[in-house]
Amino acid sequence: MLDKIQQVALDIEQWQITDKESLEKFRLAYLSKKGILNDLFEAFKLVPPTEKKAVGQALNQVKQAAEALLKNKTEELSQAQEMGTGSELDLTLPTAPFSVGSMHPLTIVRQRITQIFARMGFNVEDGPEIETDWYNFGALNFPDNHPAREMQDTFFIAKGQKQSEDVLLRTHTSNVQIRLMERKKPPLRSIMIGRVYRNEAISARAHCQFHQVEGLFVDKNVSFQDLKDTLYHFAKEMFGADTQIRLRPSYFPFTEPSAEIDISCFICGGDGCNVCKHSGWVEIAGSGMVDPNVLEACGIDSTEYTGFAFGMGIERITMLKYGIHDLRLFFENDVRFLRQFTGA
Ligand code: PHE
Repeated sequence: MLDKIQQVALDIEQWQITDKESLEKFRLAYLSKKGILNDLFEAFKLVPPTEKKAVGQALNQVKQAAEALLKNKTEELSQAQEMGTGSELDLTLPTAPFSVGSMHPLTIVRQRITQIFARMGFNVEDGPEIETDWYNFGALNFPDNHPAREMQDTFFIAKGQKQSEDVLLRTHTSNVQIRLMERKKPPLRSIMIGRVYRNEAISARAHCQFHQVEGLFVDKNVSFQDLKDTLYHFAKEMFGADTQIRLRPSYFPFTEPSAEIDISCFICGGDGCNVCKHSGWVEIAGSGMVDPNVLEACGIDSTEYTGFAFGMGIERITMLKYGIHDLRLFFENDVRFLRQFTGA
């Protein structure tokens, strides 16, 4: 009997417990009702009285050892599970590879533009891409017969009863100016960013969709000098501290006077290169003082308030900034192109 007990003690010592299953197997084999130890205790009843003391002691020792092992291993396994170091999980393995995306270059530039203007106190306003003629043209002082309304420039969606009710895809973000001035009264200082549509043949230099950012500042005593300073500051922040700006007289129905904004070519520093077509200057924006007719159309007293507005193409700024030569790349989502902007 003593030999048998000794053998069982040895078996218990060598038993491999590595997970919950082997733990349960061990419990069933030794400590359950039908387990080996119970059988031994049954057999113990038949041991002659002279041997009872020695056998009883040995038997109790084995039982204690088995119980202690069960308790320790149970604790060990549940702790390992909590810490995530269960035997099934090997934390030393290398992780599965995953790829990090990159921001679209237009998003990078749009965020930068927003940042620069936010620091000058401009908030961001939003408006619809599907618009009526009134918000896209009429309220912006476009005469009824203005050629921009013609089919070759504008995507019309539905004819209204009156021209002002025609539904179209906005051709610029200036519609948001009008919606903003209708809704809120001066002082107003906002930029409007969004997608615009024009019925153009797609090429490296033109697309039927692109993005604009437009700015509007309406308050008492807003002057042309404010416009110039604002855009000068923007140009220096966006293209570098040495950047100069130049204003050329221009025409827009909704601004008077109007000016085209050029910046000194930051590639050649004004010496002449392909980007600036050897002129030393590149055009970045249209601008002007908001026409009094536009203020009045939105219910703002043009004898009390003045304002300036400007608008620029985000694609154009991005192409200049990164030396991109084909507008189509922005919309094709070719990862070989997009991947170059990781970490920008
Ligand atoms: N809306 C004009 C365009 O799309 C740009 C512009 C905005 C010009 C504001 C002047 C003032 O070309």
